[in-house]
Amino acid sequence: MTPIIIANWKMNLQFQNAIHNMHIISHNKNSKGLIIAPPTAYLSYLSQNFKNINFCAQNISKFQGLGTYTGECSAEIIKSCDVHYTLIGHSDRRIFCNEDNDSLRNKMLNAINANITPIICIGETLQERKSNNYKNYLINQLSDLFTDINKYITKNTKIIIAYEPIWSIGSGMTPTIDNISEIFELIISNKHLSSIAKNIHLVYGGSVNVKNYHEIMSAKYISGVLIGGASIDTDQLAAIMNSAHQ
Ligand code: PGA
Repeated sequence: MTPIIIANWKMNLQFQNAIHNMHIISHNKNSKGLIIAPPTAYLSYLSQNFKNINFCAQNISKFQGLGTYTGECSAEIIKSCDVHYTLIGHSDRRIFCNEDNDSLRNKMLNAINANITPIICIGETLQERKSNNYKNYLINQLSDLFTDINKYITKNTKIIIAYEPIWSIGSGMTPTIDNISEIFELIISNKHLSSIAKNIHLVYGGSVNVKNYHEIMSAKYISGVLIGGASIDTDQLAAIMNSAHQ
């Protein structure tokens, strides 16, 4: 399977720079598997003008459909822009926007309902890692989000789970390959997820770059990576895309 490479641009790149980057990226012959998550305001333009690339919202509303929710963007609105993925629960949003697992679960169900693939981000803090409580912390995150999930999906539903330890994001520190494999094992053997393992793809995120990409991809059960900082630089992103296709 072609590795999944999710490029999370966060609140970076002004519109003209985003278009410039997209011209370079869309001409790369190794763009299969790539999913770009630009700022929301660019999604519709980019998805209409770069049809060979998959796009992803960085967030969707906890409200469904259409309605009087000023400033919100529902899964259905995102879908109508020909966008088929959304990040949900990135730690930036959990930390800076106080998003909790209850509202994230709503968002995930809205995405599934609208036929958008949710990319659910989970990950422990440094404190949890150091106190060796990280497994319980992650199991609680999984239970809050995925209890009874099999009632809401069909056999064609795809869910991507991104393991992104918070201490690794933007820090240059990464877990060992054994650490990553251990968490992936924890996810797929989770009681809420084991029966729908076929619907789940696992990716790792946190300080992924061209130098560590190959090693990270040697983790067990891994289907791809979620890249922040390195994805804004087209040279670095291209180098990772090329290695993904070697
Ligand atoms: P990073 O960010 O690659 O810059 O560590 C990853 C992320 O925030 O998803």
